Amino acid sequence: MNKTVFLTALCSVTLVSSAALAAPALTDMQNLGRHLYVDKDLSLKSTQSCATCHHYNYGFADPTNSRDPYFTVVSLGDDGVSKGGRNAPTSAYAGYSPILSLDADGAWQGGMFWDGRKTGETLGDPLAEQAQGPPLNPVEMNMGSIADVVDRVEAAPYAPLFLKVFGKNAFDNDELAWNNIARAIADYERSHEITAFTSRYDKGGLTAQEGRGLDLVKANCSKCHATEADFGAPAALFTTYRYENIGVPVNDLVLNDEASAYTYPDNGLGGFLNNPDENGKFKIPTLRNVALTAPYSHNGYFPTLTSIVSFHNSREGWPEPEVAENLNIVDVGNMGLSDQDIEDIVVFLHALTD
Ligand code: HEC
Ligand code: HEC
Repeated sequence: MNKTVFLTALCSVTLVSSAALAAPALTDMQNLGRHLYVDKDLSLKSTQSCATCHHYNYGFADPTNSRDPYFTVVSLGDDGVSKGGRNAPTSAYAGYSPILSLDADGAWQGGMFWDGRKTGETLGDPLAEQAQGPPLNPVEMNMGSIADVVDRVEAAPYAPLFLKVFGKNAFDNDELAWNNIARAIADYERSHEITAFTSRYDKGGLTAQEGRGLDLVKANCSKCHATEADFGAPAALFTTYRYENIGVPVNDLVLNDEASAYTYPDNGLGGFLNNPDENGKFKIPTLRNVALTAPYSHNGYFPTLTSIVSFHNSREGWPEPEVAENLNIVDVGNMGLSDQDIEDIVVFLHALTD
């Protein structure tokens, strides 16, 4: 048994036993998804898995960024040099996002990534489609082709489980195997190990200050970070999966970093749709586990929760928005919150940690 295989096996054993104590067992498909999610062999030099940038202990966001949110805001790729152009969001609670489409109010809703570019139309599931991005992304896992990824899975110690779940011919067709890899990962991301709903907000027993924070969130934030359960979720997801331009300033850390894939300006949804009416809009992120996922916003401009909540409250004193078009000046930027209100909100946000 080589070292990688041994460590993967060890890691699985630990996960299985802790999960067994806390919650019902995963299905075979979810279990397979977990093997894939933590498999570094899905990257070219075997240096990173999904969990590298979406780690269990960091709200399923990038630990390197969370540990150093003032200076390190985008993820490093498998080649050890290239960096992404956007901050890694949590991979948890994304599974409820519907296929990107115009909703009843004519607003774009759903899809995956900050700009919605994995729409979900191809596989009928945005989350599964998203999982097909990183392995082939040159600034992420950097694999050469679909066939290369499928070969790695076929050679993996968990290949028998793949055959058990998808049938004995499951590796015969690369395209089908590739789609099944994505579906298994998405199934796992939706499981109770990642999308847990076990925060103190879910379990009840908020302190008086957290309760005040929740009331303020309901009054000032819920239009975008919804506080009612929706999309078939058992509890609030703190997002409508819609898109808004709240006026985040350009982040010089990314702008001036030659290793970063970032290009100025980042138009978000408008860039993907090639529609200027959507320029500057980014997907409203969930607030679940947000205390663990610094830095904040699509470009990681805000190192702390207090800074991003203060920015939502008032844009006075902050640099100009990166994209001035389509700025929401009604719901954000003039909330009239006091310092005490902001503190109460931030304290409440900590109660959203699973
Ligand atoms: C090198 C770091 C890195 C790796 C490895 C990585 N991701 Fe990501 N992930 C990111 C970044 C950065 C984004 C945001 C990119 C964007 O929006 O343009 C992202 C976005 C996502 C999202 C979208 C969440 C949302 O709300 O839109 C999901 C889900 C996700 N990743 C899951 C995965 C899975 C599954 C894997 C493994 C197959 C993976 N990631 C591998 C960095 C990474
Ligand atoms: C008009 C819709 C809207 C309202 C109202 C709103 N937000 Fe946001 N919020 C967003 C959008 C959009 C983003 C992402 C912006 C970006 O990255 O460019 C965001 C980002 C955030 C983030 C960063 C999360 C992350 O993972 O990076 C936090 C925290 C947050 N909002 C908290 C709040 C709080 C607290 C309130 C109420 C006081 C609030 N928001 C009100 C739309 C809104």
